[in-house]
Amino acid sequence: MDTARRDWVVRPGGRLAGRLRVPGDKSVSHRAVMLGALADGVTEVTGFLEGADCLATMRAFRAMGVAIEGPEGGRLVIEGVGMEGLRPPPGPLDLGNSGTSMRLLAGLLAGQPFDTVLTGDASLSRRPMRRVTEPLARMGARIETTPEGTAPLRIHGNPHLRGIDYRSPVASAQVKSAVLLAGLYAEGRTCVTEPAPTRDHTERMLAGFGWPVAREPARQRVCLEGGHRLRATAVDVPADLSSAAFFLVGASIAPGSDVELEHVGLNPTRTGVIEILRRMGADLEVTPEGEAGGEPVGRIRVRAARLHGIEIPAGLVPLAIDEFPALFVAAACAEGRTVLSGAEELRVKESDRIQVMAEGLRALGVAAEPRPDGIVIEGVGSKGRLGGGTVDSRGDHRVAMAFAMAALRAEGPVVIRDCANVATSFPGFEALAREAGLALEEAAAGDEDGRRGHG
Ligand code: S3P
Repeated sequence: MDTARRDWVVRPGGRLAGRLRVPGDKSVSHRAVMLGALADGVTEVTGFLEGADCLATMRAFRAMGVAIEGPEGGRLVIEGVGMEGLRPPPGPLDLGNSGTSMRLLAGLLAGQPFDTVLTGDASLSRRPMRRVTEPLARMGARIETTPEGTAPLRIHGNPHLRGIDYRSPVASAQVKSAVLLAGLYAEGRTCVTEPAPTRDHTERMLAGFGWPVAREPARQRVCLEGGHRLRATAVDVPADLSSAAFFLVGASIAPGSDVELEHVGLNPTRTGVIEILRRMGADLEVTPEGEAGGEPVGRIRVRAARLHGIEIPAGLVPLAIDEFPALFVAAACAEGRTVLSGAEELRVKESDRIQVMAEGLRALGVAAEPRPDGIVIEGVGSKGRLGGGTVDSRGDHRVAMAFAMAALRAEGPVVIRDCANVATSFPGFEALAREAGLALEEAAAGDEDGRRGHG
């Protein structure tokens, strides 16, 4: 994203309180645009996340001839063009910071009768793309990457893809989804088997749009056949549990906090953060409230609690993959040691989240030892405090928001650098965090600590 750099200063202490609704789920919002665009008929999306990542997906489909009205107050109206209705875009599709857009679109565009080029910002241009181009090539796709296997992706459309039976080496919903979306256009059957369960929004939403999907959860396997059609439908996007996670952690670590999060997505392939926080002793009350957009939703009440360190069970890692920056802050405030392993995927997110979080925690005086596949954090305990200091988010939205919450338990101001990308997933975070009780301000240029001293 070409936004100016932005730094925050968060004054220490305080507590979080109130009823909050965080913005719409990022994963569900992307998929709603994609399937709505390819459906027959008009799809209405409500609760759409107006973050830069999902807007990049929306613009890509507009560039391919899809009329999309909005977003206005989270409402989009998509005039589906049908499975064969996309048109060649006039130029490269710039997907900004968004890995989900790039990987899912690679699958969807591999089988089109035209060529496309997918580009992204500096962070996205460093992220591994062979994990999708490799299985797609087995289906007959022709996609060029850089010699390092990164974007830009040059996709030479091939309308004669073949279904494959793919055993994915990584637990990645983006890989699974890219192969399944290519499978919509392929001849025959496409199956994906994963090493561990990952978020299943693609499978759920395909079914919601009327495309038959055969799931075998016990084998972590899903199959579909090419040649069906998608029927337009209404999609009500739940609030994003990954965005709620910052408030779950903030309220847990700040004494006296009491927060209620409304209409949050509770898809069991996403709720690892709830399970991990509970194992650490968090006080979370989850009230299911039915379904929205084919996804379970509910309310979560969180009150401050004395957290203790744990060994995070390996099986929960893919189910909490985006929540680790926040969970590391919880671990830093907990009593004793927290150990995470089997999480090497964190090194190839919007930043190297193991390294960047370890550096930031250390800057706040926390003992954090990065490991190739995880981290060991020695918490300060419920009576302890983090130090104040300056941390660099390296343009990673979730790192920035996690450290904003850390200030609740710091003894001095926490300055967080390079926060502009928070708008990729959580537009309005600053205002909502302030409303809940966080003393967050933009650092003025020339601020003693918040000075833009690098870049
Ligand atoms: C996503 C899948 C996850 C997640 C990302 C969104 C998705 O990535 O980290 O924020 O919408 O499918 P991986 O599939 O790379 O684990």
